[in-house]
Amino acid sequence: TNSEEQSSLEAYQWLVKLYHHLLRHSKDGKEALEYLYNRGFNDEVINEFQIGYSPSSRDFVPQFLEKKGFHKQKMANVGLLATSNDGQYYDRFQGRVIFPIRNHLGKPIGFGGRSVQGQEPKYLNSPESALFQKSKLLYNFDLARAEIRRKGEAVLFEGYADVIASYQAGVKNGVASLGTSLTETHANLLRRYVDTVVICYDADSAGQNATYKAIQLLKKVGCHIRVASLPYKYDPDQYIQEFGEESFRTKVIESADTEMVFFLQYLKKDFNLSLEGDRLQYVEKVISEIAKLSSSIERDHYIREIADEFNLSYDALSQELMSRMRNIE
Ligand code: UTP
Ligand code: MN
Ligand code: MN
Ligand code: MN
Ligand code: MN
Repeated sequence: TNSEEQSSLEAYQWLVKLYHHLLRHSKDGKEALEYLYNRGFNDEVINEFQIGYSPSSRDFVPQFLEKKGFHKQKMANVGLLATSNDGQYYDRFQGRVIFPIRNHLGKPIGFGGRSVQGQEPKYLNSPESALFQKSKLLYNFDLARAEIRRKGEAVLFEGYADVIASYQAGVKNGVASLGTSLTETHANLLRRYVDTVVICYDADSAGQNATYKAIQLLKKVGCHIRVASLPYKYDPDQYIQEFGEESFRTKVIESADTEMVFFLQYLKKDFNLSLEGDRLQYVEKVISEIAKLSSSIERDHYIREIADEFNLSYDALSQELMSRMRNIE
């Protein structure tokens, strides 16, 4: 019911405050705060994102919510408490750094809890509930919305840490799909606000595969796409830590290239380009992608690049392209 939802939202607000307070002022929280500072987060973003810490106690949070007058089973229904086999309520996030997850109106409706001392899993998220539906939610959309609209562009990251580190670096139109792949709902939401989405996922194979899938989805809903590239194995927050904010803004985000540049790299993973046969197969595959481009200038540009890179005849590639294009029509 509506009043149940209202009380869940209130409980979330209380917990955000409590966790944040504990990060700031408890003895336990000190280590977590130190951890955040070591990762390069400053006080401003720690406050802005209301990052918190959950104490290493099973009962502290259930007791807190009970004292505030909340019904424990109802709190469990919306993921605020976990229940054990023996019917006890406990805090699933105990001992973790807490990233509150806000809905698009800015109201907290879930948490991501990150382990501080290497416990697995690295991130524990609130379970799906009526309130918290990851497939519909983009992390930080509420804070980023104004900048997304102003720029006509959104930057899509993998996780909390990337969004926050980028925000601190001055990239304030960043959002993330939380540990799930991008959905059609996410894509449609972005499309309502922007022409262009810059995809800035991790430079590992999971991130690259996710990039490929996100491109397909975003194209389907009519977005233009640019793909930011990072050095192998880096993610945005590591990049910022190592190479700095200025470099991230200019060399990664502003320099994000067309999806075709991404494809040309990405498709290489399936081929051994030192073999003649593989090279030709790769080129054919690439040409069929180039054939899908609507701009003849772009098509020509990439055909020239491929001709150069593989020392092939431009005319032959152009002819091949033409025959592919007739097949598409
Ligand atoms: P990553 O493994 O890339 O984490 O997962 P990260 O964002 O770089 O985290 P840090 O920098 O190590 O703190 C990207 C996102 O996938 C989800 C989280 O939402 C995370 O932000 N994830 C990851 C989980 O839900 N559970 C996990 O165990 C790991
Ligand atoms: Mn990753
Ligand atoms: Mn990452
Ligand atoms: Mn990271
Ligand atoms: Mn180019």
